[in-house]
Amino acid sequence: VTEDLGDRLEPALSREDYLGEAVWARECERIFGRAWCAVGRDSDVGAPGSYLRVDVAGESVLVTRDGDGALHAFYNVCRHRGAELVDSCAGDPCGSFGSAIRCPYHSWTYGLDGRLIRAPFLGAVSDADARDFALAAVHVDSWGGYVFVNLAPTPETSLLDQLGDVARRVTRYPLSEVRSGARVVYEVAANWKVLAENYNECYHCGPVHPELCDLVPSFRRAGGDNLEWERGIPHREGAYTFTTTGTTTRAAFPDLDEDELVRHKGELAFPNLLISLSCDHVASFLLTPRGAGHTTIEFDLLFHPDAIADPGFDPSDAFDFWDVVNRQDWAICESVQRGMASRGFTQGWFAPMEDPSLDLRAWWQPRMTETHD
Ligand code: FES
Ligand SMILES: [Fe+2]
Repeated sequence: VTEDLGDRLEPALSREDYLGEAVWARECERIFGRAWCAVGRDSDVGAPGSYLRVDVAGESVLVTRDGDGALHAFYNVCRHRGAELVDSCAGDPCGSFGSAIRCPYHSWTYGLDGRLIRAPFLGAVSDADARDFALAAVHVDSWGGYVFVNLAPTPETSLLDQLGDVARRVTRYPLSEVRSGARVVYEVAANWKVLAENYNECYHCGPVHPELCDLVPSFRRAGGDNLEWERGIPHREGAYTFTTTGTTTRAAFPDLDEDELVRHKGELAFPNLLISLSCDHVASFLLTPRGAGHTTIEFDLLFHPDAIADPGFDPSDAFDFWDVVNRQDWAICESVQRGMASRGFTQGWFAPMEDPSLDLRAWWQPRMTETHD
């Protein structure tokens, strides 16, 4: 008995969910305004006084490191008349405030913890003033060497609860220790959910990624069906990492189990962090949605500090390979974004081997529809 194709397909999110400005506005409120969002690496704000300027759902946010090593986060806006403390349209997103944050407009000055220290020519700042005119705080936490912020006044879950099984599955990888050995920022004209769903299925790997499928033949088999992500995906005979040759001179991470030494793993930490794990490096994709049709992707290849310290360190074996695969993904996702905008397109579908993609719908839909009193 042959089942009709229609019976084996699941409807994707609606066209409007990927294209609509109203849906994006709702996501800013319901998804990125409430969830823990990855915004960078701990080491990007490593030293006391350093800051990271990030964009979360269109809000400019500053993450700072105080003299005691604690992280703080604030909306990037002065309590006096609302100037941005760090210009969100210019300059480097990473920098240092030194010992205090001085507004460029009238020099109101705040501590690295956000409390007001000084308002020029207005007399001494009392303890009450320091609190009453403190920068508007944003919740901040870190895990696995990543900094996360949460714009909700009171987050609904802890960061660890939100990460759930992702944190459990990657415990043997030294995520907190690894450092970026290569970084590139991609600007992609596609909705963030198109990118996340693309990451979450390998039905496309055969047609889109010939080099990747040569390295990982099972990605091509049966449309990427029945891949064992929990154990990791084996490479071709003799290969054990995501590089051009499938091998590397770098040492494997020290605590991996036997599977992890030779297999590849991938994790999607909703809403905006994708992590691909090899035995000697971690490929990290941090998605910053800029609107319904545009996503900035910060791509880092993370290595053990000992590997980076090696005088012969050269990340290009991994970087060159990843960059090819990444650009294939971004190009096809941009094509999907343009195609969905056609009046000839009504509705997308998921095939059975795209099942993992359903995870995003399952995560996204209740958050977009639930009502709060
Ligand atoms: S707006 Fe910041 S000091 Fe005036
Ligand atoms: Fe892909």
